Amino acid sequence: MAQKRSFKWIYCLLLMFGLFGLARLYYRLTDDFRVGNIHYQLPFEAPWKIPELTAQEQEQLSHLFKQKFTYIGKGAQCYAFVSEDGEYVLKFFKFKHLKPSLWVDLLPAIPPFKEYKQNCIERKQHKLFSVFDGYDIAYRVNRQDSELLYLHLLPTQHLQQDVTVIDKIGLSRTIHLDDVVFLVQKKGETLRTRLRQLLDQQRLQEAEQAIASIIGMYISEYKKGVYDRDHGVMHNTGFVGNRPFHLDVGKFSKEERMRDVNVYKKDLEHVVWKIDRWIKTDYPQYYSTLSPFLAQQYQQWTGEILDVSAIDPQRFKKKRRSLLF
Ligand SMILES: Nc1ncnc2c1ncn2[C@@H]1O[C@H](COP(=O)(O)OP(=O)(O)O)[C@@H](O)[C@H]1O
Ligand SMILES: [Mg+2]
Repeated sequence: MAQKRSFKWIYCLLLMFGLFGLARLYYRLTDDFRVGNIHYQLPFEAPWKIPELTAQEQEQLSHLFKQKFTYIGKGAQCYAFVSEDGEYVLKFFKFKHLKPSLWVDLLPAIPPFKEYKQNCIERKQHKLFSVFDGYDIAYRVNRQDSELLYLHLLPTQHLQQDVTVIDKIGLSRTIHLDDVVFLVQKKGETLRTRLRQLLDQQRLQEAEQAIASIIGMYISEYKKGVYDRDHGVMHNTGFVGNRPFHLDVGKFSKEERMRDVNVYKKDLEHVVWKIDRWIKTDYPQYYSTLSPFLAQQYQQWTGEILDVSAIDPQRFKKKRRSLLF
């Protein structure tokens, strides 16, 4: 009898591990891209407007969507797909982390759960609002430096356009674009990829030019009164050809004070520090050349000397917003 019971436990445990393993495998193979994950009805009155398109832009878009788009990757907020000609990226917003989870939905709105449920809902709404706002700001104020062609933040009825996407495991799906939140951007490559290519071939001068043009882009953004709260400069910025661009603008913010060098220098310090750290770890052989180059860039744009070795990394781990203001 006791033996029978312990077998039952072993079966239960094996079943649980099996299910857990299957779930992990599913996520790894598919990145959990599902049509359900890119649809969501906003729970608040949306303040953003869908940009009007000129006839030419409309034509360009419908021509573009005749191509199929193949999965290239995801971040915390988006699934990204590349067009057949390799020129464009189509991103769908991933609502999974931007809406309350199923179990929060299921919680009854009565004490003692009411307050907790409300807090969860408000936190998610705030997050969703801030990501959408980031894209909206980038589209209105920084469209060129973000290489954005089109931003569709709200459901519409006028596009009347389907697109075919091929997901991570090669399955083809048709998505009606009026119903989903998406954006179209030029395809580029990340700063990390570009620097790896150059440094692996010992093209130090071109690496310096690449770094200088990314820093120049940050300065031009500060001067427009915008900045990126996400300092993942190595993977969130990059190049389209030789043009620097901001490929992830989900944390873009408007801040008029950023135009002032005394304010933007703190953000720039963080950006420079990130690049400096990456070189130190991944290409230590070039650190003695590139670290002074970065310091010189900082001095050029702020008039101040920066000693990266004196920066306490903990400073950048604290709440990002409070770092500046
Ligand atoms: N315009 C682009 N060109 C090339 N790759 C891109 C582009 N946009 C996104 N990607 C790839 O897709 C990933 C996720 O996109 P991203 O915009 O960073 O999403 P998230 O906001 O979720 O972090 C990026 O890290 C990058 O590898
Ligand atoms: Mg990203």
